[in-house]
Amino acid sequence: MALTQPLPTSTSTTPISKDIFPDGLKTTGQHPPLSEHIHPFEKFPTQITGPTVWDAEEYRDHPEKWTHRFTDEEIEELSVAADEFLRAKIPMTGISKGNFPLPTLSTRLHGLRADLLDGKGYILFKGFPVEKWGNHKSAIAYMGLGTYLGYFVSQNSRGHVLGHVKDLGEDPTQIDSVRIYRTNARQFFHADDSDIVGLLCIHRAREGGESDLVSSHHVYNTLAKERPDVLKTLTEPIWYFDRKGETSKGQEEYIKTSVIYLERGDNPRVYTKWDPYYVRSLTRFSDAGIIPPLSAAQVEALEVLEATCNRLKLHMILEVGDIQFLANSHVLHARTAYVDHAPPTPRRHLMRLWLATPESEGGWKLPFWDSNEKKRGGIQVDDQAPVAPLDAE
Ligand SMILES: [Fe+2]
Repeated sequence: MALTQPLPTSTSTTPISKDIFPDGLKTTGQHPPLSEHIHPFEKFPTQITGPTVWDAEEYRDHPEKWTHRFTDEEIEELSVAADEFLRAKIPMTGISKGNFPLPTLSTRLHGLRADLLDGKGYILFKGFPVEKWGNHKSAIAYMGLGTYLGYFVSQNSRGHVLGHVKDLGEDPTQIDSVRIYRTNARQFFHADDSDIVGLLCIHRAREGGESDLVSSHHVYNTLAKERPDVLKTLTEPIWYFDRKGETSKGQEEYIKTSVIYLERGDNPRVYTKWDPYYVRSLTRFSDAGIIPPLSAAQVEALEVLEATCNRLKLHMILEVGDIQFLANSHVLHARTAYVDHAPPTPRRHLMRLWLATPESEGGWKLPFWDSNEKKRGGIQVDDQAPVAPLDAE
């Protein structure tokens, strides 16, 4: 039996400055895996069982199994906590469970967190009163709610801990520099760079922008039966992921890794970390001979993966005031392309949270040095301070 290997501690020797990071915690960012925790395909399970494996059929006609409409009491509790937080004039980047008490709702969130991390991996909340509260109070209540699920991490090089998914007119074909969440393009099945992602719908598009989810463990089982060759390719550490220029001093512009990993320790679960845009955008390095281009097997693997996700997906539409939370460890998500309303009707706007769940607090045992850091994952460039803007910038 393999014992859990001790993890190296933080490589940073400088203490975290509270002047820069108000809650005393810094996002650790993306890293290549520790090589001793990359395993050959033979070590992977032939089939996965348990609640993380789900078939969309099971949930499609049963939204009550994955939807919770906030009760009046829960909304009141969030409202009181948000008003009190506003009065205390604490910066939004300093929000934590300690300054955002939810005496009753916290119990529900505790159970939900367990279902996100170790169960089906997603939930849809309904009835968050974004129109009544406006963006500032909504953002505080949303971030406050999020603190009960995980630690918010920075989502980009600018330190955004409250992200805004909105079409800013950036060119989605410039995939080596443009993050697709800032465009109206289709997003293929992928995982975000955090343990949990939340999306709060502020405004909908005129058309499209709908959500798809899939259990990556169901996808795994399907590929294991139909295309074990594809699955094997995905477990090999031959994949380069672009940092898209969001790079700290001394870091490489890409990360060499696999797509499917095993957790560390005994009875490891299968963990997926994937985004085809980040893999396809590296031609500036492969054309220059710095990294190898995608092999034919890799191109086929990413196409088969996308097609399999599409076949097994659960479709979901986010209405104004809906919050979707999902676990990136074992759920992949996508969205359809969309068309916004003509002005003055507001554009589609989702507020996004990336939340981290360290190992010591029930998070997955990831093959990265920062697995036990509170703000593991996310995107951190040097000492960029966290910011929580109320709209896209
Ligand atoms: Fe995403």
